[in-house]
Amino acid sequence: MSKVVVMDHPLIQHKIGIIRKKETGSKDFRQLISEIAMLMCYEATRDLKLEEIDIETPICKAVVKELKGKKLAVVPILRAGLGMVEGMLSIIPAAKVGHIGLYRDPETLEPVEYYCKLPEDIAEREVYVVDPMLATGGSAAAAIELLKQKGAKKIHFMCIVAAPEGIERMKKEHPDVDIYVGTRDEKLNSHGYIVPGLGDAGDRIFGTK
Ligand code: PRP
Ligand code: URA
Repeated sequence: MSKVVVMDHPLIQHKIGIIRKKETGSKDFRQLISEIAMLMCYEATRDLKLEEIDIETPICKAVVKELKGKKLAVVPILRAGLGMVEGMLSIIPAAKVGHIGLYRDPETLEPVEYYCKLPEDIAEREVYVVDPMLATGGSAAAAIELLKQKGAKKIHFMCIVAAPEGIERMKKEHPDVDIYVGTRDEKLNSHGYIVPGLGDAGDRIFGTK
């Protein structure tokens, strides 16, 4: 069964409070999304495996710990997931980046795929799928299904604001995927927007509305 981790770190909660405000402009919104992603990445990578290796310090021989395998990938769901990539890479700079393009049909709320480009060796990598918003869960579930079809085995999902409906859908459709959430909101409204949420994350990151 997957675990759902809601990040209660005060810095994450403080920054989420700022991006919720309607007066926060695109420049600050982008910067904060990136900072939150960095802080969440630190927490979400807590279970990465380590191995011991022999080295020499300037003083003597020593045994130190190193990440085992080191094969990670970050996969943003376009567009809004792009806003989280830089923050993730500031913590795990050697990760490769794949892209999955999905948009929600405004009528049906079903995800429509328009792009997919992944690292060739995605099947061998531990994958962090990132998207600031988990609403109905349709986009995240579809992106993860696509990754599984391409052979990815160990997948995590990170989002900043989640609706209970999205979390439940993920647990049902992808019980093997751990979910890291910045905050769990109340509900979805009749247009599929998260309440209280922060509005349309893609539009706020890119200033398109
Ligand atoms: C937003 C968001 C998620 C999706 C969440 O993207 O970034 O991908 O909606 O909703 P869901 O859980 O109900 O699928 P959107 O479709 O608005 O596309 P955009 O990022 O290109 O604006
Ligand atoms: N996508 C968003 O960007 N915001 C929501 O509240 C729901 C889906």
